[in-house]
Amino acid sequence: MNAAHPISADRVVDGYRHRVALARAEARPVLPALLPAALAGEEEVVEFPCGVGHFLTAYAQAKVRVRLVDGSAPMLAEAIRRARDAGVAELGVGHHLLHALPALPAAGLMVVANGAFDQLAAPTGPAAVLARLREAVPTNARLLLQAVDPDGGGTAFYTPSLPEGVWSHDHIFTTPGGRTVARHRRQHHTPDRSRVDIEFTYTTGLSSTPVLTARVSLILSSPDRVRSAAATAGWRPVTRARHAGFAELLLEAGEVR
Ligand SMILES: C[S@@+](CC[C@H](N)C(=O)[O-])C[C@H]1O[C@@H](n2cnc3c(N)ncnc32)[C@H](O)[C@@H]1O
Repeated sequence: MNAAHPISADRVVDGYRHRVALARAEARPVLPALLPAALAGEEEVVEFPCGVGHFLTAYAQAKVRVRLVDGSAPMLAEAIRRARDAGVAELGVGHHLLHALPALPAAGLMVVANGAFDQLAAPTGPAAVLARLREAVPTNARLLLQAVDPDGGGTAFYTPSLPEGVWSHDHIFTTPGGRTVARHRRQHHTPDRSRVDIEFTYTTGLSSTPVLTARVSLILSSPDRVRSAAATAGWRPVTRARHAGFAELLLEAGEVR
């Protein structure tokens, strides 16, 4: 595998078609420290890309309208089911890739969670992602990024200190059908550590033959680099935090120049 060559958005999204069956059991979302205050008084939150949905219970409790947007139809279908189960009362959906994200005129808060920002940035870099997100939302809308902190203690899917290229047994979970699944992970950085490719394999029972393999590429950006790219793309800083291996950034959309 080659950590220097990003794969296209279509291929990235297509890879989630096979992961959806496990994703709902596998997901271990960490509520951003900045989310509860950001939701207070908000009318519409857009989660993009939502995967199977990250903070649906928090949205339901805050009684906000929710719009779930993702490039993968199967992930979106699962997110819709989970939103209903979480008690989200007003739900909108959109099936879009980042580069075709339409205008979201009612978006008050956009949430880009769980390292999705770093994944979106893999083909084009963080500045292009932030510019695209700015184009989609109205002036004064806010953006909450939960980006991987390259100097943090690690997340459920990336550990900065994991020895390079070595498999580790990183997660065990039970599917809704009662199957116990073991997840194994191996990481490959570019020499300057600006990008990481993460391989996952999933096995069940005593068999070492994977039932599924997956690969995620992330651009690793320092919080300073993200802030500077955000400013260039027309985002004003509001507040920030470091929490559970993530750098969180709350931004506000400035006037379009
Ligand atoms: C929430 S993100 C990050 C996931 C997580 N860190 C992991 O280990 O996979 C995963 C979601 O992003 C979506 N996605 C990835 N690239 C996308 C793009 N360019 N446009 C729209 N959705 C995208 C995928 O379809 C998937 O549902």
